[in-house]
Amino acid sequence: MRSSLLTFTAVINLLLLAVDAAPTRQPRPISVPLKRGLSPSLTKRGAASHPLWNFAPLGYIIDVNVGTPSQTFTVLIDTGSADLWIPSSSCTKETGCLGKTFDASQSSTFKNTSEPFDIVYGSGSDNGTYVTDVVRIGDFAVNDQTLALVYDAGNTTKQARSTPYMDGILGMAWDTGVYGALHNYTYPPFIYNLYSTGQIPTLSFGLHLGGLYSQGYAGTVTFGGIDSSQFTGDLQYIPAQQENFHGTTSYVHWTVYVDSLKLQSANTTYGFPSGPALVALDSGSSFAYLPRSMVEGILHNIAGTDYQPITNSTFQVECALLNSTEVVEVTFPGAGNSPPVILQAAVKDMIIPETDGINNECLLGISAQDQNSLYIFGDAFLRSWYLNFDFTNKQVGLAQAVNRDDPQFSFDVNNLV
Ligand SMILES: *[C@@H]1O[C@H](CO)[C@@H](O)[C@H](O)[C@H]1NC(C)=O
Ligand SMILES: *[C@@H]1O[C@H](CO)[C@@H](O)[C@H](O)[C@H]1NC(C)=O
Ligand SMILES: *[C@@H]1O[C@H](CO)[C@@H](O)[C@H](O)[C@H]1NC(C)=O
Ligand SMILES: *[C@@H]1O[C@H](CO)[C@@H](O)[C@H](O)[C@H]1NC(C)=O
Ligand SMILES: *[C@@H]1O[C@H](CO)[C@@H](O)[C@H](O)[C@H]1NC(C)=O
Ligand SMILES: *[C@@H]1O[C@H](CO)[C@@H](O)[C@H](O)[C@H]1NC(C)=O
Ligand SMILES: *[C@@H]1O[C@H](CO)[C@@H](O)[C@H](O)[C@H]1NC(C)=O
Repeated sequence: MRSSLLTFTAVINLLLLAVDAAPTRQPRPISVPLKRGLSPSLTKRGAASHPLWNFAPLGYIIDVNVGTPSQTFTVLIDTGSADLWIPSSSCTKETGCLGKTFDASQSSTFKNTSEPFDIVYGSGSDNGTYVTDVVRIGDFAVNDQTLALVYDAGNTTKQARSTPYMDGILGMAWDTGVYGALHNYTYPPFIYNLYSTGQIPTLSFGLHLGGLYSQGYAGTVTFGGIDSSQFTGDLQYIPAQQENFHGTTSYVHWTVYVDSLKLQSANTTYGFPSGPALVALDSGSSFAYLPRSMVEGILHNIAGTDYQPITNSTFQVECALLNSTEVVEVTFPGAGNSPPVILQAAVKDMIIPETDGINNECLLGISAQDQNSLYIFGDAFLRSWYLNFDFTNKQVGLAQAVNRDDPQFSFDVNNLV
């Protein structure tokens, strides 16, 4: 399935690179006390913001509590998939589970649906079963929430020298895109149940990933509303698009049309090979995936000839680009007759530093994708924006994010994880 292959490709690529590039990395302790209480800036009563922990540059994570009594897991927040999954206690290091695992026998509210959950990602598969149990995030609790328990985590969480930074994944995409839909097993994901049980006022969430260099708490996810302190100007809405999924047309990823990208200083515009293209707004992907012609054009403009391929789709660039003042302008077609929505993303925020403690190298956070298929805006772009994912009105609101902590010149490679 195309969607499953895409979601984690980028993370995996980066993790695989990190295995080679960073033999001395140690895990940072992940203590993520979820902030409770409401932010005064919330525009919708009852919505609640939760801080996201930035394990820069790998991903944006949040804690979930599962079972009675609660067992706590650190999960990647992923707008590119819809299922919540955590590892089962029967998953071992050998089967790819290096972090915490869920002991179903210790939860009095656990139920097994026996429905299979077999995700296939770009570089491995996760085998498990759909189960139900209490799921809590901060103040929110959903009884009998369907989630997946994974017995074999394949190669999705296994990574960089046994230093897991995430136990599982919290999918925040459409109910019609859960993996069970492949065999006609569908269920309401966590946020749908928050809404149907009246815990949040709208079936939507706001997301601000925060800066690339913010250590610790970086951004916020706001279930059921938006946090207007996190962006400038007004949110501008564009329609979410459907995709082909197991023979039907349905909402799967958070996908929108994109017209073009433009390098502002160079005054050069890059279109897609055949007009406006579908691009998934995917927080589970570190990298963006865009057409090769576009990526090579951008590279040539910002780096001259000072770049080299690491794989045939990923490029190493000079770390001096961390100081680049070039800005990419992204043009989304407006809804109906509305004018296009134009957002900016700074090139310096797309440069991903890597270190082995001795040598530093930098990657461009945009990979070339040769197939003419769904493209991806991963974290390299998304962290510049505030996003409001609105299931009810099938639209995405976009605005320029406030990046208060943006010390791009003080990045300390020795401070990497
Ligand atoms: C759930 O059911 C499946 C299928 O019957 C079984 O393989 C699995 O071991 C069960 N898991 C737990 C935790 O009971
Ligand atoms: C995982 O599921 C896939 C697809 O159903 C299957 O081919 C594979 O053998 C399973 N692997 C394990 C370890 O169960
Ligand atoms: C994980 O990767 C290894 C090596 O690439 C491969 O042999 C193995 O089959 C993969 N595991 C799964 C479950 O996909
Ligand atoms: C899912 O349901 C549809 C409609 O009922 C049916 O045509 C299809 O064969 C089912 N698919 C599977 C995998 O069971
Ligand atoms: C940018 O390019 C367009 C056409 O490619 C041209 O019309 C315009 O004058 C250029 N703007 C600047 C500031 O050079
Ligand atoms: C490299 O890219 C080409 C297309 O340009 C593709 O056909 C080939 O399979 C890729 N090779 C690898 C190892 O990914
Ligand atoms: C960025 O510019 C500052 C000031 O000129 C310089 O000290 C720093 O080394 C530069 N950073 C990189 C990564 O080149």
